[in-house]
Amino acid sequence: MAKIISVANQKGGVGKTTTAINLAAGLAKAGRSALVIDVDPQCNATSGLGVEPAQRHPLLAGRPLAESVVETSQPKLFVLPGSQSLADADALSASNRQRASTLRQQLNGELSGYDFVFLDCPPSLGQLTRAALGASAEVYIPIQCEYFAMEGLSQIIDLARQTKAKDNHRLEIGGIVLTMYDPALDLANEVAEEVRGYFEETVFDTLIPRDVHISEAPSHGVSVLDYSPRARGAWAYAELAMEVIDRE
Ligand SMILES: Nc1ncnc2c1ncn2[C@@H]1O[C@H](COP(=O)(O)OP(=O)(O)OP(=O)(O)O)[C@@H](O)[C@H]1O
Ligand SMILES: [Mg+2]
Repeated sequence: MAKIISVANQKGGVGKTTTAINLAAGLAKAGRSALVIDVDPQCNATSGLGVEPAQRHPLLAGRPLAESVVETSQPKLFVLPGSQSLADADALSASNRQRASTLRQQLNGELSGYDFVFLDCPPSLGQLTRAALGASAEVYIPIQCEYFAMEGLSQIIDLARQTKAKDNHRLEIGGIVLTMYDPALDLANEVAEEVRGYFEETVFDTLIPRDVHISEAPSHGVSVLDYSPRARGAWAYAELAMEVIDRE
């Protein structure tokens, strides 16, 4: 059965989409099939994997989801494209408890053939993120190794706890991913230490470095593992994929 993981943090630009794409790509390279579901109307995960956004969000199209899944240029890596329509975002967000349980059934029933499913969430604690958490077994929280990294972390963690208590008893905080790490900055090391001190083994050992190849890859519609396989950023996401497999 697919392991369904939301990648969420209400803070913008912390590496949610980058982590969803490249971690899925790393898992696919390791032989695990991975599907990225784009629930963010920005559709960055969709375009970052070289795919056009959908007119209607596949989760609302009323067709079997499998028909809307798009192959990427990488074997075993798939995307369920997002839609830029705000009406779709509203519809996906509507009546969240109902939607979360429908979404959970849809994903578990129709997409059980994948090893991993990642839901790339928008930067908010709104209904889209709530619906995604409601349908997931785990949430991964990327945080940027910069000042204020910890600020706001309690909000996403509280939302995960509330969701677990109310709608989705199996939800766990599967991991915190430290992103955009620059070893030359004392501050980055301090942040990494502080987060580890607080969240202990929930934090993945792998540090994702700040690496320009990571930021260039989406404009080529491929993961950094294909764009620049020898780049530090590619190694890091491959290593993170191994950690995820070890935690299975
Ligand atoms: N490790 C990294 N090194 C260099 N650039 C990075 C790295 N991770 C992410 N970026 C860049 O930082 C920007 C924000 O990353 P990303 O889009 O993954 O964040 P996000 O949390 O999904 O943002 P949003 O909240 O808008 O959805 C992007 O331009 C991305 O290419
Ligand atoms: Mg994003």
